[in-house]
Amino acid sequence: MEWKEKYCVGIKQIDDQHKLLVDMITKLQESAAKEDVNSEMRKVLKEMVEYTKFHFADEEKFMNKIGYPERGRQRSLHDKFIREVIKILQNLKMGKELSNNELISFLINWLVNHIIKEDMRIGTYYNHEYKR
Ligand SMILES: [Fe+2]
Repeated sequence: MEWKEKYCVGIKQIDDQHKLLVDMITKLQESAAKEDVNSEMRKVLKEMVEYTKFHFADEEKFMNKIGYPERGRQRSLHDKFIREVIKILQNLKMGKELSNNELISFLINWLVNHIIKEDMRIGTYYNHEYKR
């Protein structure tokens, strides 16, 4: 996965964290090519879940700080995503075969969609309403 300029929401702290998430997905793509795919994927996915939790908490703190009106919806979208990834992890642990492509495209689609449709609005609010 490659970082694109159009993913920038205009808040450095959030953009830097999103860049790290893109790096982690890239690492996941690399691990999909390894021999012991399942255990390698679980390891990388677990790291990603931990970092994503940190990122969501930080983003939520930021939204609270600036009084972003849609923070409630953001929060439930974040929670839903974490629940979905944890379910995937549990399935992997139980030995369920999971198509790597499916998992990776789910993560990429979610992140890109979320950044472009949701987080971008935080940037707009912050730069055009809050800072004014
Ligand atoms: Fe978000």
